[in-house]
Amino acid sequence: MSIKLSTGEEIPIEMHKARMVQKIQLVPVDERLKSIEEAGYNTFLLKTKDIFLDMLTDSGVNAMSDNQFAEMIRADDAYAGSMTFYEFANAVDEILGFKHVMNTHQGRAAEHLLAKVFLKSGDVVPTNYHFTTTKGHIELQGATVLEIYYDDALKTESTNPFKGNMDPQKLTDIIKKYGTGRVGFVRMEATTNLIGGQPFSLANLREIRRICDEHGLLLVIDGSLICENAYLIMQREKGYQTKTVAEIVKEICSIPDLFYMSGRKNTSVRGGMMGTNNKELFDKIRPWLPVYEGFYTYGGMSMREIGAMAVGVREMVDPTVAGCAVEQVKYFVNRLIETGVPVVTPPGGLACHLDAMKFLPHIPQHQYPAGALSAALYIASGIRSMERGTVSMDRDKQGKEVMADVELTRIAIPRRVYSVSHIEFAIDRINWLFKHRDLVKGLKFVDEPPVLRFFGGRLEPLGEWGNNLAEAFKKEIGNY
Ligand code: F0G
Repeated sequence: MSIKLSTGEEIPIEMHKARMVQKIQLVPVDERLKSIEEAGYNTFLLKTKDIFLDMLTDSGVNAMSDNQFAEMIRADDAYAGSMTFYEFANAVDEILGFKHVMNTHQGRAAEHLLAKVFLKSGDVVPTNYHFTTTKGHIELQGATVLEIYYDDALKTESTNPFKGNMDPQKLTDIIKKYGTGRVGFVRMEATTNLIGGQPFSLANLREIRRICDEHGLLLVIDGSLICENAYLIMQREKGYQTKTVAEIVKEICSIPDLFYMSGRKNTSVRGGMMGTNNKELFDKIRPWLPVYEGFYTYGGMSMREIGAMAVGVREMVDPTVAGCAVEQVKYFVNRLIETGVPVVTPPGGLACHLDAMKFLPHIPQHQYPAGALSAALYIASGIRSMERGTVSMDRDKQGKEVMADVELTRIAIPRRVYSVSHIEFAIDRINWLFKHRDLVKGLKFVDEPPVLRFFGGRLEPLGEWGNNLAEAFKKEIGNY
């Protein structure tokens, strides 16, 4: 939540207190330079001992609540029939409204099962925007992702409150073009991760449902960030200001045929799940669960995590939990707008996103501006962010580079982990880097894995720019 100060200024306020802490350290800039060189200018390959603020992701790194920890101790360890699973199923029924539920070891495992059961070679999957792992699984089945956002979804600077909406006209055109037999399913992602955590509106979701019904198509929601989407609907969609996050989450979940989520984000654990009220669909997927994940009542997760997830599902719809990252992102983004730093607007769900093509206009896209910016931010601050641009796209079947629609450096906000002073520090170092942006140059791959190359690929700077940036930092700011 946010609170108004007596000056009129609004700041995000943490509605929790720390009762267990982990020490972090800020290593000197020379060491940061050495670390990023050793990591092949890829922030995924840094070690946490060299990282000050780990803003790579909001996945699996959120602070759990006291009640979640308590539930982990209480959890009923059993290979089959654990009561902890049934407690989880009750929480899902109560909060999300699904009668049939299964756990998976994480979100992408649910994507694997969905792709396996519902897609065949030559199919298409229309989506408001893909996520990397979703696309990977869809393509492994020989199907193709079709992105059907409204044109302005890719405008990084915008006032459109719902850039995550799907364009219904484009969906209708696709159905006409491919025929219903080739549309495997329609996928809506709650706060489109890769284009800046942008929400869809309930009005849009209902319209997409109507079109799916008209053509007998399956509608799937990826709800990995459902609470942020619901919180933003509460703030932005007409008619929802008086509804609670819990009511909006329930309403979203009443619309699709199938729902899945990574549990690593909203529920602050390490796992995933899939839910539906359609028993026929559920029975198509369920036989595969013990083959790929684990028995029906654990699906590849530990019972402890399922116990914590049951509590997490109930806690995630509390507005102080659903809104904790959203409010910090809003503050972060608005402060950078004041100094002219190019950021994705309006502020979205999971991170502050720098627009690397505007931040570093001198770096052509094939030299990976978002990757360079992510490495430069680490050198300047010890903050680990994530490249979400062309490095995160794999080459096509002919080996040609596929340029990303947008080049973003994502500075994620793990839930209940960092304070406003950490964000102030990040804002300061980003402003410093913006003033010295001419020093930053591009990157080239020296080791490039064939799939999801952004995870393990190694790159090299074009020229000595890492060194030059570190020298400028030392001269003006010092070692830290
Ligand atoms: N869908 C969305 C929208 C996601 O953001 C993620 C993960 C997944 C699916 C896959 O879930 O990691 O549990 O297997 N996003 C993480 C991120 C990795 O950093 O944004 P998973």
